[in-house]
Amino acid sequence: MLVFAKIKSVQEKLKSLKKETSIGFVPTMGALHKGHLSLIEQAKKENDFVVVSIFINPTQFDKQEDLINYPKTIENDLDLLKSVSCDLVFIPTAEEIYANNITSSSFDFNGLEYQMEGKFRDGHFNGVGTIVKRLFEIVMPHNAYFGEKDFQQLQIIKNLVAQNQMPINIIGCPIFRENDGLAMSSRNERLTTAHRAAAPFIYKTLQKAKVEFGTKNADELKIWVENEFKNQPLLDLEYFEIADEDTLISIQDIKTSQKQRAFIAVFAGKIRLIDNISL
Ligand code: PAJ
Repeated sequence: MLVFAKIKSVQEKLKSLKKETSIGFVPTMGALHKGHLSLIEQAKKENDFVVVSIFINPTQFDKQEDLINYPKTIENDLDLLKSVSCDLVFIPTAEEIYANNITSSSFDFNGLEYQMEGKFRDGHFNGVGTIVKRLFEIVMPHNAYFGEKDFQQLQIIKNLVAQNQMPINIIGCPIFRENDGLAMSSRNERLTTAHRAAAPFIYKTLQKAKVEFGTKNADELKIWVENEFKNQPLLDLEYFEIADEDTLISIQDIKTSQKQRAFIAVFAGKIRLIDNISL
């Protein structure tokens, strides 16, 4: 497995591959878990050469504290990447990516950026857009893999690629969960024992909401979910939304012509967890 920190080294290696070699790319911020590995395994199946990036992107954090406390487990990450036969890992410094100008560009994602996460994480999607565009320009993959865990991010990246006419297929991958249903996340490591024990309630509620959506409309369901969380002293609901999968605009009732999803963000103590379910 090749491990590179410099853009030039990555580009030289990729240029040396035979023309017909398909390149799959999985961008990450490290602290890898089985959710990340499921993306890499899919990329390995569908491509000849797989590149993974590990870069804790400073411009997408709205809270400095969150950036500082983001888990860093590089040795373990490299072991995990070897175990899934990753071909090349790119681990740049912030200087390599941003030189001395650590700022985001401003993007227009046709309104996708103003829904849900966009309302609560100021500047987050400008930061994500900036880093993913930069990484795409460096790696120029044929296929890039993103988790449905961050469904809004996935839709925004599809929009980014379409707007910039980048010839990259964006592939959404299913959410990988712990046995108790909690969506895997690098942040789960930071939960206290009590918060970890409480957290599976998030997905349980999404599953119940999916059943209830047949009889309740979105507003009724929102109230129902809010009440469910009032009985959970360790969990604070930030939002629960039902939205169209393509536009991410909130919807009221089931529409058979459209795909819709329920989205949730919850604080378990200081740790913010997100999840979603197809309805
Ligand atoms: P990170 O949180 O490290 O996630 C990297 C990729 O793994 C994302 O596409 C994310 O959706 C996916 N992922 C995380 N947990 C998952 C799970 N439980 N099941 C399936 N996929 C999962 O998302 C980012 O990094 C960054 O915003 C990034 C795109 C790298 C830009 O900095």
